[in-house]
Amino acid sequence: MTILHTPQEVREALKGHSNIGFVPTMGALHQGHLSLIQKARAQNDIVVVSIFVNPTQFLEGEDFDKYPKKLEADIKICKVANVDYIFVPNISDMYTTLDEVLIKAPKVKGYILEGHFRPGHFDGVLQIVLKLFNIVKPQRAYFGKKDAQQLYLIKQMVKDLFLDIEIVACDIVRDKNGLALSSRNSYLSAQEIQQALSISKALKLALQLSTTIKDVNKIKEEMLKVLQIDVQYIAFVDEEFNPLDTVQHKTTVLIAGYVGTTRLIDNMTIN
Ligand code: PAF
Repeated sequence: MTILHTPQEVREALKGHSNIGFVPTMGALHQGHLSLIQKARAQNDIVVVSIFVNPTQFLEGEDFDKYPKKLEADIKICKVANVDYIFVPNISDMYTTLDEVLIKAPKVKGYILEGHFRPGHFDGVLQIVLKLFNIVKPQRAYFGKKDAQQLYLIKQMVKDLFLDIEIVACDIVRDKNGLALSSRNSYLSAQEIQQALSISKALKLALQLSTTIKDVNKIKEEMLKVLQIDVQYIAFVDEEFNPLDTVQHKTTVLIAGYVGTTRLIDNMTIN
């Protein structure tokens, strides 16, 4: 496994390869990331993992400065998972000028739900993902379904900008109690973990209720009774991320909110 630091080094290392699987991450790797890496390993000749805490997707006052950094442990995980290359750039390698060409997330889907509470977040996500795609030039790229709106918008970017990359969506990995794995879970105290467990409980409840109740508002009312977090939104969306009032086939139920000072998101899909 080789660690690369600059876009030039990546280009040089990957020259001539045409079956590259790419897993973009912000580090602090957990089983969720590992499942993406394993899928990439199974489907590609070369696997590249990037580790970069991207400043442009954090809003003023968010956790950019304290975002967990565990490079040594991340390197070990990647080595064991048989990753070929880790790309660990500095901010100045990825953002070379202050006045750069900017990608804008779509005005509607990029500014509802996550985009409403974190305006501009998806502009930064798409900006960095496009840069990373252009540096690594993968055939396939792997993203978790936990960031459902991110996944949707990345797929839309690939389509709208005619990028020749297959986006592979990977299932959410949960701990034995149902908590969706997230690097931000490391901020939670033991008591907060108990509160956070109410998120997956509420989602499971929504899935159960949706077999008989189709009115989204009624299901939301029941979800709010079990949730022990400071809820920002509960939303039901279709596959195109249109908010729904009535449950239909393949509706995704999304929750976002705070447990203490930690913001968590999760979702489940009704099949
Ligand atoms: O999902 C993440 O970890 C980040 O948003 C990503 C896709 C690596 C871009 O910084």
